[in-house]
Parts: sequence; C-alpha cells; structure tokens
Amino acid sequence: MNIDQFMEGDKAAWEQRDKLMFAPATHMNRRSYNAIVKDWDAVRTALFRHESAFLDRLVNDMRPSAKVLDLGCGTGRPVAELLLQQGFSVTGVDQAEDLLALARQRLPEGRWLHAQMEAFEPDEDYDGAVIWDSLFHVPREHHEPILRRVVRRLRPGARLMLSVGGSDHPPFTDTMYGQPFFYDSHTPEAVVSILTALGTVIEKAEFINPPTDGRDKGRYGIVARMA
Ligand SMILES: C[S@@+](CC[C@H](N)C(=O)[O-])C[C@H]1O[C@@H](n2cnc3c(N)ncnc32)[C@H](O)[C@@H]1O
Repeated sequence: MNIDQFMEGDKAAWEQRDKLMFAPATHMNRRSYNAIVKDWDAVRTALFRHESAFLDRLVNDMRPSAKVLDLGCGTGRPVAELLLQQGFSVTGVDQAEDLLALARQRLPEGRWLHAQMEAFEPDEDYDGAVIWDSLFHVPREHHEPILRRVVRRLRPGARLMLSVGGSDHPPFTDTMYGQPFFYDSHTPEAVVSILTALGTVIEKAEFINPPTDGRDKGRYGIVARMA
C-alpha cells in the first residue's frame, strides 16, 4: 500500500500532506476544484468543440475491452464515460475528491484513484491514456516526469491524448467560478519534443483554440502513439 491509498478518503490528512509535500499550486487547485464541483459538473457534460476528433483518434483501432488511463479525470464526464460506453476499461485518477466522488457514484464500472499526478505511478500497462486539460494545472517541472511514467506503461501501438497550453507564457493564476486556479505549460513545440524523445510518434497536433492577445493563452491538443 502506498501513501495515497493509505490516506484515501481522509480529507484532513490530504490537506496536511498537500501543505507539507506539494507546491501551493497543487493545493490551490485541489481546493478550488472541490469548491466549484457543482458548477464544473453542470458545464462539463459533453465534449467541447474540436475535442471529439482527438478522442476518435485515441480509440481508433483500439481492441475491445482495452484499458485506458485517464489522468486528471475530474468527474469522469464526458471522457471516461464515453470510453466506458464503448466497452473499454477506465482507470481515472484525480486529486479533487469531490469530483472523483461523482465519478464513483455515476460510473461504478470504472476504477477511480485519488492521487496527485505528480506522485502517481501507474501500476499496470495500458492500451491508451488521456491527460486532458489537467497537465497545465501542474508546475511545468513535473510535466516530463509525468509523461515519462505514463508513456512507459503504454503498450506498443497505444495512444496518448494530451492537451497543453498553447503559448510561451510564464505560470499564472486565473479565476473560474470565483476560485483561483494555477496554470503552467511548456510550449506546444517543447511538449512535442518531449514526447518524441520518449519514443512516441506524433499522429495529431494542433490548436484546440489558439491564444488571443488577452486572457486566453490557448490550448493545444496532441495524439501520440507508441511505436
Ligand atoms: C479542467 S479539469 C479537466 C477534467 C477532465 N480531464 C475533462 O476533460 O473534463 C482538470 C482536472 O485536473 C485535476 N487536477 C488538477 N491538478 C491535478 C493534480 N496535480 N493531480 C491530479 N489531478 C489534478 C482537477 O482536479 C480536475 O479534475
């Protein structure tokens, strides 16, 4: 049993652990997602524009009953839910226990793990992985190690569906439903280089929404495949 499993369900212990072991950024995002669970759940009911093409690519040729890891799965809706509907097995990982509780309640056929992706070590091999709109909530020094730990558990031919920030920008905080959230990302080009160095082949890489001159720093989607 590792420390994450030991502390599963103990909110006070998690608060203490966040403060001692992890950056304030991670602590802030966990509290903030828990605080906006109702609003987030109400808005994140279906794939947003341009997202379907990435999910279609992820599951293309995937064998029936394939296993998919969803890192930063939130409530499991819509991504894990769509994968489960197609007959795949899903392991969802998230640090915000109130979002994860919805996933457990609605999608009991999934495997739901309460963990921080900076500390998460996959314990099985996967036919696919999703890290969608979650990596950019983690300080960028963790991004390569997180991707390395996931990629090394992907079977040959398995795909990773990933989104990152869309511009060259220092870390920043922004608000959503009145709560503060931390964001950080390498540039899309740097992430493509990391994934290529890890032995994947980039199959699809494009802006989901390009950066504007204002608040929107852009979002970039990638599907990479294990050679
Ligand atoms: C924008 S939501 C995206 C959720 C889901 N992937 C989707 O596409 O709807 C970001 C998710 O990442 C999770 N998250 C953020 N930082 C995390 C971390 N360090 N470890 C685990 N989960 C994290 C949040 O709790 C939240 O559920």
